[in-house]
Amino acid sequence: MRKPFIVANWKMHKNVAESVDFVNQIKDKLPDPDKVEVGISPQAFALHSMKQAAGDSGLRIIAQNAAAEFSGPFTGELSLRGLRDLGTDYVMLGHIERRRMFGENNAAVNKKVESALQMGVTPIICTDETMVQKVVNGEIHYVFQQLMDVLHGISLDQIKKVVISYEPSWAVGVGQHANVALAEEGCRTIRRTIADNYTYEIADKIRILYGGSVNPDNIKALMAKPDIDGVLVGRASLDVDNFLKMANYLDED
Ligand code: 13P
Repeated sequence: MRKPFIVANWKMHKNVAESVDFVNQIKDKLPDPDKVEVGISPQAFALHSMKQAAGDSGLRIIAQNAAAEFSGPFTGELSLRGLRDLGTDYVMLGHIERRRMFGENNAAVNKKVESALQMGVTPIICTDETMVQKVVNGEIHYVFQQLMDVLHGISLDQIKKVVISYEPSWAVGVGQHANVALAEEGCRTIRRTIADNYTYEIADKIRILYGGSVNPDNIKALMAKPDIDGVLVGRASLDVDNFLKMANYLDED
């Protein structure tokens, strides 16, 4: 059984005081961590204070990015060693905004994924590409080539530890509604891609999240889909009430 995972991606919003205040407002109202995992990805400077504020509430603290190198002359970068020491639970890698605006390509994201696994900070690998046709064992399959490039060299043992998110460009940061059927199709195709390239057992266990225009009104429909194991929420996660409605989607009418 794959545990649902609800993730807030705050992008470049909220200062330290606002981030900590948010955690203090929500931490006693989160779902049972054995049933639903909930995490927030704040700006890097708020990670430490949020981790402290979260205490033993079960709230996961997630970095938005990290460098592939562990230390050295990389001005402005964020080290995975530092993130691990701080107790960061996950790191998002290859988000569409990093790709579009900061020129991250598959090779760069692949190196970061390897480093995160080596350092023991679980990567949430973001994929945004549309599907491409590919012949696998004589049959036509739809696959995410971007994802396979990013997973290049990642072993059977390592792949078990990653989380994957599907955040198509037509849905991220735009005013339109998330298309539940297309979201499920994308997540299902990712699962099949993992099955084809690793094993069915692993594909069955790996968690695949959907991101793009998720909000309290559509989260239940998305989470009801068999291949959507969680969501990555941008805009709608910035407000305490909306966030709590989504974190507690199982209890909402
Ligand atoms: P929105 O929820 O604002 O569309 O952003 C999605 C996203 O980028 C999550 O990582």
